[in-house]
Amino acid sequence: MTMHTSSETAALLDGIRTFIEPAHVRVDPDSCLNYGRDWTRLYAPNPLAVVLPGNVEQVRQLVRYANEHRLPLVPSGGRTGLSGAAVACRGELVVSLERLNRILDFDPVDRSVTCQAGVVTEAVQNFAREQGLYYPVDFASRGSSQIGGNIATNAGGIKVVRYGLTRDWVTGLKVITGRGDLLDLNRGLIKNASGYDLRHLFIGSEGTLGIIVEATLKLTRPLHEPSVMVLGVPDLNGIMAIYGLLRGKLELSAFEFFSEMALRHVLKKGLHRPFDTETPYYVLTEFENPDGLQTDEALALFEHCAEQGWLADGVISQSETQAKELWRLREDISESISEHQPYKNDIAVRISRVPALLAEIDGLLAREYPDFEVLWYGHIGDGNLHINILKPASMESAAFAKQCGTVSEHLFAVLQRHGGSISAEHGVGLTKKPYLHYTRDETEIGYLRAIKQVFDPNGIMNPGKIFD
Ligand code: MLT
Ligand code: ZN
Repeated sequence: MTMHTSSETAALLDGIRTFIEPAHVRVDPDSCLNYGRDWTRLYAPNPLAVVLPGNVEQVRQLVRYANEHRLPLVPSGGRTGLSGAAVACRGELVVSLERLNRILDFDPVDRSVTCQAGVVTEAVQNFAREQGLYYPVDFASRGSSQIGGNIATNAGGIKVVRYGLTRDWVTGLKVITGRGDLLDLNRGLIKNASGYDLRHLFIGSEGTLGIIVEATLKLTRPLHEPSVMVLGVPDLNGIMAIYGLLRGKLELSAFEFFSEMALRHVLKKGLHRPFDTETPYYVLTEFENPDGLQTDEALALFEHCAEQGWLADGVISQSETQAKELWRLREDISESISEHQPYKNDIAVRISRVPALLAEIDGLLAREYPDFEVLWYGHIGDGNLHINILKPASMESAAFAKQCGTVSEHLFAVLQRHGGSISAEHGVGLTKKPYLHYTRDETEIGYLRAIKQVFDPNGIMNPGKIFD
């Protein structure tokens, strides 16, 4: 990393001010703090400055300028990420896309919307709703995350069992590559068999290949009157048995789980238990239920699961308001534990491997770390589990981080044996970089590096993220 003297820095920033309005080249401490970090809060933000381009041409000029001056850039969306991919802690220039926040086009025949990278996820969802349609990629940070960031991390969330990941909804992408070229990728086409699809390289690239400036997204019809069920489950194996049964009979749009330990944190924030019976785990599932026609089927399935001993209690929503309240039991967990500086893990295995993996990890954590408060939740229907370990109040952050590093090594060794991934949806960024080799072998990582070299020969795009 190049160190600049203060006069060199001033000259570099003055250079930027020749093509981006001075008000949008910020060096004040508040901007540097806010734009220099994401939700990980593990790294001290230390950007050179924060630049907010107002159009695509300014982004292109900025990338070209950064190449000339070997200036590292960190693309920045809503910064709700949990892997440090949007952190600028080594004197990088943060490039915020937040001023590129316009919805540009909608086509009812294509059922697609084209928007700039800085449009907030919820704004796209609302826009789709106003057209009688639905953008189904959804998660708790919908109110601040931005489309460009979602694409750069291939965001998943709570509806993946039915609708897949962000990748499945991007039909077009405009990017400025690390070389400063504008690429117009796939242009909204559904079918396009004309060679390598570079769009998919940018999806999930975490800002390391270039900057996403515009996207065309598919929309679909809205869910028909979804109902939500929360079920109390005595053990982890029961969860998968219930899933196997329900997914064959109901049109599921979510199949989530959380532990009693996790539930207690949202209850402390004022939410209410879904029912009186306490069980170690809970399932939250959502299914289409137009005119209540599936309610009898759902109740029959509930009875069957109860007879098998897979569940102990449950509730089915009677209104949209109640469905929303039940969702909060799952969606609010992350926020409710943030004050405990949790060590967060976000792992994935094939669905069929979930029971074996769960049993092994659960045993490992109970044996090796009996004093840690371990919380389970996540998108179990996708094979995606979030394991959060809370920092004991009496333990120093550094000591906790060290112990968690050991936890990771143990956990990822187990995961590797099960053919899993160290990150299902949060990305690699900085937090998972040391562990990438558990999921990708050295040969494959070599190919990743070679791809980066093509798009970003001077290594200015989010250096030090994913791999060194
Ligand atoms: C979630 O599923 O709640 C999000 O991925 C955030 C988190 O894991 O904490
Ligand atoms: Zn999640």
